[in-house]
Amino acid sequence: MYITIDTEVSLKSLNTFGVDAIASQYCRITSAKDMIKLLAEHKPALVLGGGSNLLFVDERIEGLVLQPHIKGIEAISFDDEHVLVTAQSGENWHQLVGWCLEHNYGGLENLSLIPGSVGAAPVQNIGAYGVELADTLYQVEAINIDTGEPEMFSNSECRFTYRDSIFKSDLQSTSIITSASFLLTKKKHRLNLSHDTLAERLRQRGISGPGIRDISQAIIAIRQNNLPDPVKTPNAGSFFKNPVISGEAYREIGRHYPDIPGFELPKQMVKVPAGWLIEQCGWKGFRGAHAGVHDRHALILVNHHGASGLEIYELSMDIIQSVLERFGITLEREVGVIGDMAGRS
Ligand code: EPU
Repeated sequence: MYITIDTEVSLKSLNTFGVDAIASQYCRITSAKDMIKLLAEHKPALVLGGGSNLLFVDERIEGLVLQPHIKGIEAISFDDEHVLVTAQSGENWHQLVGWCLEHNYGGLENLSLIPGSVGAAPVQNIGAYGVELADTLYQVEAINIDTGEPEMFSNSECRFTYRDSIFKSDLQSTSIITSASFLLTKKKHRLNLSHDTLAERLRQRGISGPGIRDISQAIIAIRQNNLPDPVKTPNAGSFFKNPVISGEAYREIGRHYPDIPGFELPKQMVKVPAGWLIEQCGWKGFRGAHAGVHDRHALILVNHHGASGLEIYELSMDIIQSVLERFGITLEREVGVIGDMAGRS
């Protein structure tokens, strides 16, 4: 079978920010075998997953944009209580969660409705409502771009931390994830109800002994209520990471802002919600010419109408600057910025 490489392809419908960028070459790959064949002759300039966590700043991408579209989900019994579910990288993340719920496999329910593809999920160790992908991920299969060989990575080899992994750092330009496997429960599900918003929602609904489907439904409702739907209001979820600061710095800010929320971490560090910092700086609901800040969640930048990637990027720079001036904290972007940023930051 031939592998088709298209030229001058608009990526507008392939990123949830709805930003227009042209790829000089674009190829959608439907099998690991084709990927190996293609890599023998072409090195990609960019590997695109579901396009839900990136911002195209340049209007053109020179070189090959490769989008894995490898499909398939299968489960094999692991032991009496666990099953190993392997999903190919082109599967939609939320559909994988739904498939697991249909089969009564527990572990991914708190990660319901996160946009994006399975292949992109390990890169940033997606997380929500008290659970991270790293909690159930068993192994990742990736193709080494230089050798064209498949490689396996165990959970510890992925070096997961908060919204980070080896695929975002050391292996960023040398590995393409082709599948991810999760060790899930078949029975005696270990529910995570640690997140206040989730516990409160279940309580309000009078659900006292929830199952994995109840948790998923509650999270879908919370997300639909708090976060903008990328189809109606293009966005890429949390634009910044929640910063981690020292207990000392936290107490110092607390002298002026006694309401500052914070979650204690080991080594006397404190994670502060970036949404709160941004809201304090007056950005919540801000509307620029084309881009703005969501009016129900200040951590989410939105494309109101026809914003360029550069406009959204510049808005993010203004937000970083004002949070730095007011709180002395430098926000880090969670969203991957694609483009040559020389002279822009
Ligand atoms: N807050 C404000 N104003 C706002 C938004 C938030 O003050 O406009 C404060 C509130 O104190 C709130 C706290 O921030 O209690 C935390 O807000 P939320 O529960 O919405 O969580 P988050 O820390 O803003 C993180 C993830 C989300 C994930 C939620 C739920 C990051 C960068 N983001 O957001 O992930 O859904 O927790 O677990 O860690 C994503 O990564 O794209 C994403 C949406």
